[in-house]
Amino acid sequence: MHLNKNLYPLLLLISTLSCSGDKKSETKHTETVSNSTKNVEHKNYDINKGLGQYDNIDVSKFDAQMAENGQKIFQMNCISCHNVSDKKLVGPGLKGITTRHSAAWIMNFISNPNEMLNLDPELKQQVETYGIKMPNQNLNPTQVRAILEYLRQIDGAK
Ligand code: HEC
Repeated sequence: MHLNKNLYPLLLLISTLSCSGDKKSETKHTETVSNSTKNVEHKNYDINKGLGQYDNIDVSKFDAQMAENGQKIFQMNCISCHNVSDKKLVGPGLKGITTRHSAAWIMNFISNPNEMLNLDPELKQQVETYGIKMPNQNLNPTQVRAILEYLRQIDGAK
């Protein structure tokens, strides 16, 4: 009985020592995994659609009421950085945007700028030109669709 009590701390010490020594190989493993994830994201990026929840937006009709709502939302959330002419402000002028990009791309970018700014070759170029990243305004789908209708109106939809 006496002997057992004295041996206990010694056993603890031995088991602690035998557990150390594996750390280096673990770190290397993690680095490899995160690198390959990045490459996969790049391959799947679609420059026509962008990245996000929107795809195949129906723009066969123009909705004037929706465009008017979109203008209000634009004036609250976008006008501080964007002209609707072709003149630069904090960001690019938005005239002609609906002829350069699909409706889905525009709506995906407005609601998912952080990811698209890292993936889209044109947007990456713009970040260099403008020196700032467009923030996510957390708009809901109705608001984002209305802004698209307003941008379509700017580009001549009737
Ligand atoms: C704080 C400034 C800021 C606000 C607010 C902002 N943007 Fe931007 N936006 C930018 C910048 C800067 C860019 C260029 C890409 C970059 O550097 O992030 C950009 C790019 C864009 C583009 C792509 C333009 C092109 O020619 O490809 C669209 C479309 C756009 N913004 C729409 C909007 C809309 C719609 C809103 C409002 C919901 C908005 N932005 C709010 C700064 C802003």
